[in-house]
Amino acid sequence: MTDQPTEPAPESRAEVADPTRRQFFRQFAGDVITSAAQVMGAVTELRDRSAHEASVLLGETAADAPPVEGAVDGTPTGFRTPFRFESDTVLLVIDQRRLPEVLIELPVRGAADAASMIRLMVVRGAPAIGQVAAIGLALSAGIVARSTPHTRRAILEGAANALRNARPTAVNLAWAVDRLMDRYHAMGDLSPDGAAIAQALFEEAMAIVAEATDDHGRLAEAGLAILPAPADGERPLQILTHCNTGPLACGQFGTALGVVQAAYLAERPLHVWVDETRPYLQGARLTAWELQQAGVPHTLIPDMAAGPLMARGEVDVILVGADRVAANGDTANKLGTYTLAVLAARHGIPFVVCAPLSSVDLATPDGAAIPIEDRSADEVTVIRGQRIAPEGTAVRNPSFDVTPAELISAIVTEEGVLRAPYEPALRAAMDRRDARRAPAQPAGVAG
Ligand code: MRU
Repeated sequence: MTDQPTEPAPESRAEVADPTRRQFFRQFAGDVITSAAQVMGAVTELRDRSAHEASVLLGETAADAPPVEGAVDGTPTGFRTPFRFESDTVLLVIDQRRLPEVLIELPVRGAADAASMIRLMVVRGAPAIGQVAAIGLALSAGIVARSTPHTRRAILEGAANALRNARPTAVNLAWAVDRLMDRYHAMGDLSPDGAAIAQALFEEAMAIVAEATDDHGRLAEAGLAILPAPADGERPLQILTHCNTGPLACGQFGTALGVVQAAYLAERPLHVWVDETRPYLQGARLTAWELQQAGVPHTLIPDMAAGPLMARGEVDVILVGADRVAANGDTANKLGTYTLAVLAARHGIPFVVCAPLSSVDLATPDGAAIPIEDRSADEVTVIRGQRIAPEGTAVRNPSFDVTPAELISAIVTEEGVLRAPYEPALRAAMDRRDARRAPAQPAGVAG
């Protein structure tokens, strides 16, 4: 037997799971999400609700937000969304490259800023980059509201392309940009009313943020329902996760880490094995930080420890996110995910993908068609400014891998838990989501 994970001291646990938070999470896992869904379309209301929910979840209110571009002394505390508005024209994004040492926000004033923040990994995680791209594009539409229609079209089309190409694997990015551009095209590319276009794109971006809040809450609730509950007296549920899938990556509750947090706040006994996630260390830097802020028991492990832990019976379930789920269920996620899935199959451990339907791409038939981003050699050869391999060493750094659908036990979405065969299940889930969001028709109106 290896050391069992330690439970937090009762007093520290009580400190985290205070009554307000417990109350919030009972709602979070239940009726708030349902009622949020019912007001879909009332963008402003849901946006306000989203901001409030996120601030409660993250244990912080806007008034506690850090100064712009000012490093916080010491290790930052407070668990927060990766972005917030400073004004109508400036979005502040947390520089995730600098966590966990310092908490710094950088301004995004338009699509060009958003594209470079996404490319540079200031903001990362599939849902979060889609949301920041949408807001950046909407801010650009505001900047060109008084330009001539031809100038506006050239700038918006160019900005959309730059954003789509900033990171190719996570489909949420192109999906969000396309959604805004569809709205623009529907108003007429050369419409003279620049203010109306800017307003419409801003509303579309806010709808994407608000829907993500609702969807991730629903997803967490669905995932919580299938987590095995250890019998009384047994050890806490041992969850293994990879990369970072919490609020920093998602904008709101998180995907795989949203399920973990919902389970923790539902007072399920659990412990999380956190893969460090070489080479970029999203697990070590971001997931460990988020779980620490949330008070969730966890242990950081080298990626290569996952196999031996599974072999020793110390992993009960694996929860990961997704950057793109192809029509057949093949799933691209952070490099190392495929290895975990193969190991999980070898050891009979459920391997569960937690992904909102905005990460599903029915136009991509299977994993072979998913573009895989190659990132810079420096991510492998240099750690926090320190070179660890000889200068000039050849490096290959694919940022993502593809897990075949046959290795996936379930895909948890905002429309429930999907099982193979995935293509019909994904299509049906999208139909349910679209029906849920469709504006109610007045009685007697043919649909
Ligand atoms: O390269 P990153 O850090 O953007 O990769 C993030 C992941 O792979 C996450 O697991 C994924 O986006 C899914 S959930 C947010």
